Amino acid sequence: MSFWSDKRVLVTGGAGFLGSFVVDKLGDRGCANVFVPRSKACDLRDRDAIIRLYEKTKPNLIIHLAAVVGGIGANRENPGRFFYDNAIMGIQLMEYARAFQIPKFVQVGTVCAYPKYAPVPFTEENLWDGYPEETNAPYGLAKKMLLVQAQAYRQQYGFNAIYLLPVNLYGPRDNFDLETSHVIPALIRKLSEASKMAKPEVLLWGDGSPTREFLYVEDAAEGILLAAEKYDGAKPVNLGTGEEISIRDLAKLIGKKVRYAGQIEWDTTKPNGQPRRCLDVSRAKELFGFEAKTSLQDGIAKTITWFQTHVDKHCEINPA
Ligand SMILES: NC(=O)c1ccc[n+]([C@@H]2O[C@H](COP(=O)([O-])OP(=O)(O)OC[C@H]3O[C@@H](n4cnc5c(N)ncnc54)[C@H](OP(=O)(O)O)[C@@H]3O)[C@@H](O)[C@H]2O)c1
Repeated sequence: MSFWSDKRVLVTGGAGFLGSFVVDKLGDRGCANVFVPRSKACDLRDRDAIIRLYEKTKPNLIIHLAAVVGGIGANRENPGRFFYDNAIMGIQLMEYARAFQIPKFVQVGTVCAYPKYAPVPFTEENLWDGYPEETNAPYGLAKKMLLVQAQAYRQQYGFNAIYLLPVNLYGPRDNFDLETSHVIPALIRKLSEASKMAKPEVLLWGDGSPTREFLYVEDAAEGILLAAEKYDGAKPVNLGTGEEISIRDLAKLIGKKVRYAGQIEWDTTKPNGQPRRCLDVSRAKELFGFEAKTSLQDGIAKTITWFQTHVDKHCEINPA
């Protein structure tokens, strides 16, 4: 019998970017009872909706992925919503999971919880050593409070909540809407469109100097399921690759892959975000054997192919 065969798994946000891969992998592992609440029918900010959901689905494992997320622009425009929605969903889901005596709760946090100037690579021990980068602090801190809740509930009630900190994700099915997207889909879209229109130059946000680490979405989903299977501890755990790349080099890499022949220029009036991001990924390997498998080159190639077959063909490009 596999770990998953007798599980009733509730995946909040299971129709989203990361969630859809988690749900696919649960299917691959033979989990027959997977429940995915959608926000229209079940608003997880609403306590009564959560209670009804737990009564109806009777889960024995919850993977909480539902969140409002976005790139720097979306974070700057919605600090209040990003704080409230993310905090209230997690706090209430965990509180009622405890009340319903649900045996395991997997809380997915974010690299945005780290201090702006944490020593690189970020180790989980440095999580509380400073305030996060200002543009994503409301989002990052709302999710960080769920680590406090998980640890406090473990201590007082013996509640088994684990806490994971994925780095920036990318891959097929990502959000390519330039108003709300993260950096990789935004670069793929801008540079592909510029390539098609043979634009002589493309203007990108910031100065290109910040570094980021990127985890391919299927690897992230694998890490979450391994943690659900094998890890039952209080310590937060990073999920990443441990490899850092500057936004400038990333733009060059994507530009080459989409055959963009023009110049990449930088709009330094726009914010850079956190100066550097790169995780120490040793704890995940040690505690539940997780190691990312997909190289950035391969992952970006797969993401571009998906963009070209699913998004780009619907895009209207105004040649004016
Ligand atoms: N993407 C990244 O780079 C990244 C990096 C680190 C951590 N994470 C974390 O990974 C998780 C998944 O992120 P993602 O990028 O996959 O996000 P996503 O594609 O935007 O999916 C989030 C899902 O949350 C659901 N949701 C939002 N508000 C809700 C509400 N009020 N009630 C019920 N459901 C609600 C939405 O469901 P509907 O579709 O039904 O509206 C949506 O599908 C999040 O917890 C995020 O913080 C993401």
